[in-house]
Amino acid sequence: LVLGIDSSTQSTKAVLVDAADGTVVEQRSAPHPQGTEVDPRAWTEALTQAAGPLLPRASAVAVAGQQHGMVALDEQGDPVRPALLWNDTRSAASARQLVEEWGGPQACAELVGSVLVASFTVTKLRWLREHEAEAARRTHRVLLPHDHLSQHLAAPGTPAFTDRGDASGTGYFSTVDDEWRPDLAAGALGREVALPRIAAPGEAAAETSAGQVLGPGTGDNMAAALALDLGPGDVLLSVGTSGVASERVSEPVLDGSGLVTGFADATGGFLPLAVTLNAARILDLQARLLGVDHDELAALALTAPPGSHGATLLPYYGGERTPDRPHAVGTWTGLSTTTDRADLARAAFEALACSLADTVDALASRTGPAGSPAGRVVLVGGATRSRALQRVLPAVLGRDVELPDPGEYVALGAARQAAWALAGTPAPPAWPATGTRTLRAEPTPQVREPYARLREQTADWS
Ligand code: XUL
Repeated sequence: LVLGIDSSTQSTKAVLVDAADGTVVEQRSAPHPQGTEVDPRAWTEALTQAAGPLLPRASAVAVAGQQHGMVALDEQGDPVRPALLWNDTRSAASARQLVEEWGGPQACAELVGSVLVASFTVTKLRWLREHEAEAARRTHRVLLPHDHLSQHLAAPGTPAFTDRGDASGTGYFSTVDDEWRPDLAAGALGREVALPRIAAPGEAAAETSAGQVLGPGTGDNMAAALALDLGPGDVLLSVGTSGVASERVSEPVLDGSGLVTGFADATGGFLPLAVTLNAARILDLQARLLGVDHDELAALALTAPPGSHGATLLPYYGGERTPDRPHAVGTWTGLSTTTDRADLARAAFEALACSLADTVDALASRTGPAGSPAGRVVLVGGATRSRALQRVLPAVLGRDVELPDPGEYVALGAARQAAWALAGTPAPPAWPATGTRTLRAEPTPQVREPYARLREQTADWS
């Protein structure tokens, strides 16, 4: 048996899996504080709670986690402050400053694979230097959330390690040269900082205190891609706290427009992504505003016609990243005296679908000549359980969408990496493909027009 762990923005999940065929034997989860800044000790506690009872039964384990978070540690290995997460936009000005210092957007993409936005770790280092100089001075080592948790599981004395997938979200890793750029981290923080060793894909990177194999771990998006084993041209659309469109490719993508971040993956290839900051929270907020639960929200939405009688939402409630508008807020238009609760419910699903469609378009425009995904669109994530999203998304995208059987795909990807590290083979073990069902709907191209208009009209509001 192998254990895969997903330390996500919302909770920690652990799945115990049969290494031979990927069958899930048992799974558990534990909550931890949410938000944009979290004490990393809360993650280790949640990990102990979720994974503790399963760990003794596993021969190997690997940890996947939310990307980008800055876990800054002092010389003793204690956090100098709570971790700043991928969805924290306070370092937006630092991101712009660093892009400028590094010679502009295209030069930045060529240097580290992506144009920096506030999500990237390096921008948080610069913010720390400028706003919390004392904490910056005490920073000896910087880890990502998943490395920090691997370190927690590793036998005492194990040197810290990470993988190239998660490393590529820091902003101080070159995807072209496949190595750290410690000078960029030091330049941002104003002092040298220790970085973890980068373990090779599938390497048995270390051992736990009980002698089990510990895989390198990786970022959550890389782990999901590993679990689902997507083919060329397939787009993985993940709807969780963030909305993410990703695709596996064999060469680094260096997109100077900043729409697509050119990450590495967990297998030796690359995983360009387009990411929104607002996904599940659009539906959470709408349910709260209407005083209904998620099932009621979906039922209500499905009683309104496509287009929601003109009610249109631009759902950038927590600032946005695709497009890069860190200070944006949500904006409604088209409300009239006849707008009803069903329209407001449906408009929220249409807004989510339009924003996801924007990510798919952005990604496809950078990864293929056709400008639309050549393969399948595969949908995962908690919000995909919503009946309304299952109907509205294919309608707005104007194409079929594949919905895999429900599963913790990030934790499963970590489990597959653990099985790989245990086997010591050149490639990950072949596990049977998960079952999927096809979501089909009558295309509603008219829904994206008012949304796109509102997006453009608000372009200079942030
Ligand atoms: C990717 C990103 C998010 C987090 C969410 O760049 O910021 O998808 O990984 O966990």
